[in-house]
Amino acid sequence: MLTGEEIISKLRRRWITFYMAFRYGRWSLRRLVYGCTFFFCTTFTLYYLFFVLEMIPWNPAVDHWCQREKAPDYILQPEADEMTVVTMFLDLGVFKKGEQRFAYHSPYKYRKWMRVFGRLANRVVAYIESDDDIQFFREIRSCLPATLTKIIKVDRDNLSSFKHLPKISRIYSRPSYPKYHPNTVYPEYTCAMHAKYDVLERSASEDYFQTPYFAWLDVGLFRNLDGTDFPIFKMVPPDKFHPERIGFSQVWPQDPVRIPELIMKEKIVWVAGSMVLATQEYMLNFTRDYKLAVKELLDQGLSNSDQEVINAMYTAKMRKPHYIKIKTYLCHQGQLGLYGPDARYFCLGYVCKNAWEKRVPQPAPVIRS
Ligand SMILES: *[C@@H]1O[C@H](CO)[C@@H](O)[C@H](O)[C@H]1NC(C)=O
Ligand SMILES: *[C@@H]1O[C@H](CO)[C@@H](O)[C@H](O)[C@H]1NC(C)=O
Repeated sequence: MLTGEEIISKLRRRWITFYMAFRYGRWSLRRLVYGCTFFFCTTFTLYYLFFVLEMIPWNPAVDHWCQREKAPDYILQPEADEMTVVTMFLDLGVFKKGEQRFAYHSPYKYRKWMRVFGRLANRVVAYIESDDDIQFFREIRSCLPATLTKIIKVDRDNLSSFKHLPKISRIYSRPSYPKYHPNTVYPEYTCAMHAKYDVLERSASEDYFQTPYFAWLDVGLFRNLDGTDFPIFKMVPPDKFHPERIGFSQVWPQDPVRIPELIMKEKIVWVAGSMVLATQEYMLNFTRDYKLAVKELLDQGLSNSDQEVINAMYTAKMRKPHYIKIKTYLCHQGQLGLYGPDARYFCLGYVCKNAWEKRVPQPAPVIRS
């Protein structure tokens, strides 16, 4: 029989042993706390870097679909209203896109979206800055005949829009200038948006593929197709597209009596910059007018992305009589599989894809070997 005192001293010894082990032993509490903190912080940081920011130091995997499928011959033949698709990729690093806390875009994200060009059967002119990205784009296009792709190495310092960089930086550094991520925060982003019209002008005047139409296409317009199993496709101008117009997707209705200053400072958008469609002559005139408008606005201390510039250009205050008329394309919710802001920003791209799908016997047959 143990006496009460013995029981207490036994428990006390047990407790001391337990306590010392916990504190100083291999799995001491302190180590456990530090270990867990380290583990969760590392996991969270890696998760954040990889899945939220997508700061991934290698290129995404490219699907070489031609190992399983064959492109139908007719898709590669030029149509009477063939369009040259112009795009550009400048590595702007990771930047904040939009005002939500975790809204960031990384080069990896753009490189993933770019993969859709591997199944775009149009003639493509791509302006790319680094040799690695040129190599990557070549790999993306490798299942299509080499004659459909023209890659041009550019240097952002040689694009006339980047000459405005110091002026734009000065405007954005004013504390009173409204801040929108990245439009009025990141001057290189603004220059890259203006540079679309530099390369559109270059490609329309060079006319590598001798096509009647030219279109700017953002690398990310068909981002929703990436990672899905979609057949090789092509874009043609929408049915009854008026060749004396310039086509855009409409984001919001236009109010032509708004003053340009308000549009530029409050980021008011009318048409999306994700796709621009016109014939050669009209594209050349539009790009020239666009560049003059950018200068005119900068001289008034106003800067924002191309979407605001175009909205400002076509207001009663800035619009010139010779400006090319804009034809807007508006998709309703759910049309062509577009929902939410996608229906507003990406409409024209999907309308052009659909215009081609309506022409072919079945929606883009896939021949599997
Ligand atoms: C850019 O311009 C510089 C100087 O004019 C020239 O040396 C360089 O080759 C150009 N780069 C490209 C890619 O055109
Ligand atoms: C394009 O610009 C040229 C030169 O200013 C002009 O002669 C021509 O009429 C313009 N074309 C259109 C369609 O506005």
